[in-house]
Amino acid sequence: MEKAHEKEDITILAIESSCDETAAAVVRNGREVLSNIISSQIDLHTLYGGVVPEIASRKHIERINQVIGEALQTAGMALREMDAVAVTYGPGLVGALLVGVSAAKAISFASGIPLIGVHHIEGHISANYIENRDLEPPFVCLVVSGGHSHLVRVKDYGEYDILGRTRDDAAGEAFDKVARAIGLGYPGGPKIDRVSKEGNPDAISFPRAKVADAVYDFSFSGLKSAVLNYLNSCEMKGTEICQADVAASFQKAVVDVLVEHSMQAVEECGLKKFAIAGGVASNSALRSALDKACAEREIAFYHPSPVMCTDNAAMIGSAAYYEYCKGVRHGYDLNAVPNLRLGE
Ligand code: KG4
Ligand code: ZN
Repeated sequence: MEKAHEKEDITILAIESSCDETAAAVVRNGREVLSNIISSQIDLHTLYGGVVPEIASRKHIERINQVIGEALQTAGMALREMDAVAVTYGPGLVGALLVGVSAAKAISFASGIPLIGVHHIEGHISANYIENRDLEPPFVCLVVSGGHSHLVRVKDYGEYDILGRTRDDAAGEAFDKVARAIGLGYPGGPKIDRVSKEGNPDAISFPRAKVADAVYDFSFSGLKSAVLNYLNSCEMKGTEICQADVAASFQKAVVDVLVEHSMQAVEECGLKKFAIAGGVASNSALRSALDKACAEREIAFYHPSPVMCTDNAAMIGSAAYYEYCKGVRHGYDLNAVPNLRLGE
């Protein structure tokens, strides 16, 4: 992409507070991370078995200034050296988003630095640019997180076609719900990933749901119900449940569907590049299955490291850079949009 500005380097302070991580980062030219500070609230929410929105908002307020200060300090830069302040403004928990948006607006207003609102999913996709310096659009990206499952054609920076989405639960949500049902607790994804290594993925045959007339859409609620039914029937029959086998068989059912849809999409789009993003993208079984499937088809496979898959602000700084280059600037009427759709 041509740089639509005179200055050589563009440095952006980015803020992310859409769910349960309070995060700030300093990113240069969209790909170079000068600092990436993440203050996770996970221990707190684990006590309640999931994210409690009111608690998340309060903790963001307590931590955000310190996290932003630390991001600047670690980068060894002052606020006046920033070319823009970027912030996630949706989708996410409205109270949580508002903390980041208010902080970014206050910084922009007080310092005169331009404000850029970023779509959270666009951030997840852009995490791939940070660790894969050679990656350029077009490519197909599978975004799988706690709140979203999208199959996206990235046509250009900031330009997307949604090929498929979930009709019910997001992939991460299914991981979290099944983990709770088999007694693993929150957050479920990493725990199922770990326990599955001890289990047999072919022990139990769980359904691979297809959505009629929408080949790229996902549906995970039927799979979740199938796991719950299996657990109930074992209990009724007095059969002992093998936690590792249930976890591994469930994980395989999710992975099979994600891989099949993704490969079909890349092939039908006629592209040779495929990327993954979002918290579930750090799943080891998914990564190795995609690695194999891409290698068989001679498709280049891009994936961020696990820390860049889950929520962070560096990915927001990367997405913001490409918006900045296009001339996107937001006013002080920027608001949190909990249901913001990609491409709006
Ligand atoms: O992207 P993310 O940090 O937050 C959202 O934007 O939702 O994703 C969090 C989700 C949670 O549902 C978590 O259980 C899941 O990602 N997750 C995983 C793994 N690590 C995190 N799911 C499967 N395997 C993992 N290793
Ligand atoms: Zn996320």
